[in-house]
Amino acid sequence: MFSQLTQLPPDPILGLSVKFKADANPNKIDLGAGIYKDENGHTPVLSCVKAAEKFRLDNESSKAYLGSAGSALFNEKMTALILGDHKVIRDNRIRTISTPGGTGALRTAGEFIKTCTPGATIWVSNPTWANHQGVFKAAGLAIETYPYYDYENNCLDFSGMLEALKQVPKGDAVLIHACCHNPSGMDLSKEQWQQIVDVAKQVGFLPVIDMAYQGFGQDLDSDAYGLRLMADSVEQMIICSSCSKNFGLYRERIGACSIIGKDSISADIINSVLLSVVRVNYSMPPAHGAAIVETILSSAELTTQWHGELKEMRDRINGMRQLLVEQLVANGVTRDFSFITEQNGMFSFLGIDQAQVQRLQDEFSIYIVGSSRISLAGISPDNVNYLTQSIAKVL
Ligand code: LMR
Repeated sequence: MFSQLTQLPPDPILGLSVKFKADANPNKIDLGAGIYKDENGHTPVLSCVKAAEKFRLDNESSKAYLGSAGSALFNEKMTALILGDHKVIRDNRIRTISTPGGTGALRTAGEFIKTCTPGATIWVSNPTWANHQGVFKAAGLAIETYPYYDYENNCLDFSGMLEALKQVPKGDAVLIHACCHNPSGMDLSKEQWQQIVDVAKQVGFLPVIDMAYQGFGQDLDSDAYGLRLMADSVEQMIICSSCSKNFGLYRERIGACSIIGKDSISADIINSVLLSVVRVNYSMPPAHGAAIVETILSSAELTTQWHGELKEMRDRINGMRQLLVEQLVANGVTRDFSFITEQNGMFSFLGIDQAQVQRLQDEFSIYIVGSSRISLAGISPDNVNYLTQSIAKVL
């Protein structure tokens, strides 16, 4: 059976990390995977996480199964983190489960949608995270795309997006990035969110909001503005969130899938279906990451500490946006890259072509996703000069 298999290419994002590790060039720079790094290129364990882990070590009394929904306390804390003090919580219309990372949340959401409507279609932005299409395809959904980014002018193609969403058939799902759009860094303004919410109501599509970077854009509440607005207005919606980036818990695999129903009775039915989807897939989520997050969010002191550490990560990345643009100019690049400073989160598109991306890798050991997406978190004051000189050479 296995002899029929053929070798597949490496994952476009994860494959870069493998290549980067194997590269012996001391000047190498990793701008591939969306993972926070400090000025020394290190991905630290947050101090609040260390403190929570110590607390768990001292206090955890059992490793018994938690069930397919995972930890009830984590689910409650995550719902509040995502939605704030929202009416859908007070009306008991939302159910949240812990999932193995944000990807696990997306896959579970995909399986859930397929269970509701076999053969359903989900619309994703063009461009979107390189794994979105694969995850939803694997869950059995058909994929369509809507315009999002204007590559010519390095800005949002909002009119294209709006017009496409008006044509989405009722009952299809539409995936929207809550904040820090991956890969473009271009987010919707408040006014634009309102227009998308209006279209969702008119058309009757199911909004599926992916929030993998809450806290990396403006702040925790502002980054959730759009999804909260959507939740104000629609009867049904899905939110997939991740604790990988904002809690730095990448390898612990912890995220959440939250589903809003039209009332509490339908939310209970949704929950029962959601749990059955999980049971036949991975049965139950891992617990350690959830335990860390719920410990932090249950402690005022650790929450304050987390807010500070999150701000530090966000500020460092934004500082690197400025520095990158300044250094490109200083190294004689005449092309206007100032749009990078207006974008949010970990990513931007450089807007260079595939051959130039490949040259950066082959000649300068600078690793960038093929679409020319850069992870700003890989830039530091120490490497920005080498980086911008190299970009100047390939331009
Ligand atoms: C990314 O987009 O780089 C991250 O979300 C990591 C991943 O899993 O692709």
